[in-house]
Amino acid sequence: MSGKKQPVSRRQFLNYTLTGVGGFMAAGMLAPMVRFAIDPVLQASSGGDLKAVAQVDELTTEPQRFDWTIDQVDAWYESEVTKSAWVYKTDNDEIMALSPVCKHLGCVVNWQGDPDHPEQFFCPCHDGRYYKDGVNVPNTPPNAALDVFEHEVREGTLYLGNAKPRGEF
Ligand code: FES
Repeated sequence: MSGKKQPVSRRQFLNYTLTGVGGFMAAGMLAPMVRFAIDPVLQASSGGDLKAVAQVDELTTEPQRFDWTIDQVDAWYESEVTKSAWVYKTDNDEIMALSPVCKHLGCVVNWQGDPDHPEQFFCPCHDGRYYKDGVNVPNTPPNAALDVFEHEVREGTLYLGNAKPRGEF
């Protein structure tokens, strides 16, 4: 190795300078475009909004199915989604709002759907069953309880939000 310094030629100096300046300019133009492109992903989802679903005085101790729609924004895609819940009043006069989505493979459960097992939710896909409180019946395909909707009562109206597994509220 020689200890001699290699002088930078004029051509090399221009190459380095133009590459550096070009890189800064490209980054300056691309940054806003990237921000614009991923903006919907960074937006907070409106999926957690509570929606008015029923009047509290129409609820009984018998589960009733209520359907409602929400506007769902999934990044760039906006759609109207129908949601459903089985809602009833417990013996303690508390409101229970259960998701109808079976925890086995996602079919829809029905209250008293199986005449052999009245007072239970029944999933017709693989004979899954749940007790009235949404807990899965042992030795049937579902291995978890039905999700529960977050809910709020305002001036006699029941509002429902997202359904979550038990223990997540
Ligand atoms: S999807 Fe409900 S029992 Fe299989």
